[in-house]
Amino acid sequence: MTTSPLSVFSTDLARTAKIQDDKLHSAWRSPSNIALIKYWGKKEGQHPANASLSMTLSQAFTETSVTALRSQGPALLININGDNAHPFLPKLQVFFQWLIREIPVFNGFSYCVETKNSFPHSTGIASSASGMSAFTLCMLDIASQIANVDLSREETLHLASFASRMGSGSACRSLFGGFSVWGESDIVAGSSDQYAITINDLVHPGLDSLHDAILVVSSRPKSVASTLGHSLMNDHPFAGARFMQARTHLEQILTALKAGDLERLGNISETEALTLHSLIMISRGGGLLFEPGSITIMRKIKEARDFGLPVFYTLDAGPNVHLLYPDAASDKVEAFIRSELLQFCEDGQVIFDHRGEGPVAITERND
Ligand code: DP6
Repeated sequence: MTTSPLSVFSTDLARTAKIQDDKLHSAWRSPSNIALIKYWGKKEGQHPANASLSMTLSQAFTETSVTALRSQGPALLININGDNAHPFLPKLQVFFQWLIREIPVFNGFSYCVETKNSFPHSTGIASSASGMSAFTLCMLDIASQIANVDLSREETLHLASFASRMGSGSACRSLFGGFSVWGESDIVAGSSDQYAITINDLVHPGLDSLHDAILVVSSRPKSVASTLGHSLMNDHPFAGARFMQARTHLEQILTALKAGDLERLGNISETEALTLHSLIMISRGGGLLFEPGSITIMRKIKEARDFGLPVFYTLDAGPNVHLLYPDAASDKVEAFIRSELLQFCEDGQVIFDHRGEGPVAITERND
């Protein structure tokens, strides 16, 4: 069995002289990501059933701050968007328990967590990806402060990718700017089931400024939570075919990324989104996650494309529609969104986002 990067880190921490401070603080902003090749279905150990590929966003993010107070601990006090009873809390609690088991230096402190999203929670915008990655970065920062060790940005992101996957699989892809792959695949050198890797060196510079406008058709919580959703793949009649398709799509999208071929990338992304929803629709306990507005928007995108507008869509496991388009067409596509699509969004909500650079530490201390 190979040793996990986190257990190596934890063993190193155990050897160092600990700081005596009673109060430590860390704050990070971490972005969401949009999967172009979807992670849907998992194996034991929170390993994905197939390799997924995503683009990290910029404007859809979570800001988390963690204050550690020396105490009999460890206890966790969480406040999400000012809501102490938020549905995301149990997932964070379970992940926190895992973290303190893996990194014993966390014992002896209590943790006060404040977390805020720039977008509505549980809407099919991957809030657990940004939330779990931001929280993990804060906790790893606190662990290195307790043990008085310095981690490079690269080491921090790699460890955080490994650890945050245990909180939420898609979170491990949010640690890197641009495009990432999570899941072992013979097609991508260095890929792993345990953490994501960046693949920007395989991407044509023409896609550096790819846009993603997120049309919020409904901000109601998802009717199929992702974790339950993944388990629907365990006895799914089309599981085998889906995992083969995901491999083919990964191969094809890598070719498209390399060539800067947006049309090919967009077509694969649309097929991925429709496959995800089809799989959910025919799962026992799954259902229909589209709203009428989602379908109208998808139709209108297709029509606009027939008239020459370079715009494509993808969706996660929810009703909201992500529009992918190049920078060169952003004025035209955004005018089209405003005139034709905004009427189908809840309260006219749209997040104009684009390829982002990954997480940043928030340096000002509010203690
Ligand atoms: C449809 O990462 O939310 O967004 O690992 O159980 O937390 P857990 O699932 P999660 O699943 C995301 C599924 C998806 C596709 C994707 O982001 O790849």
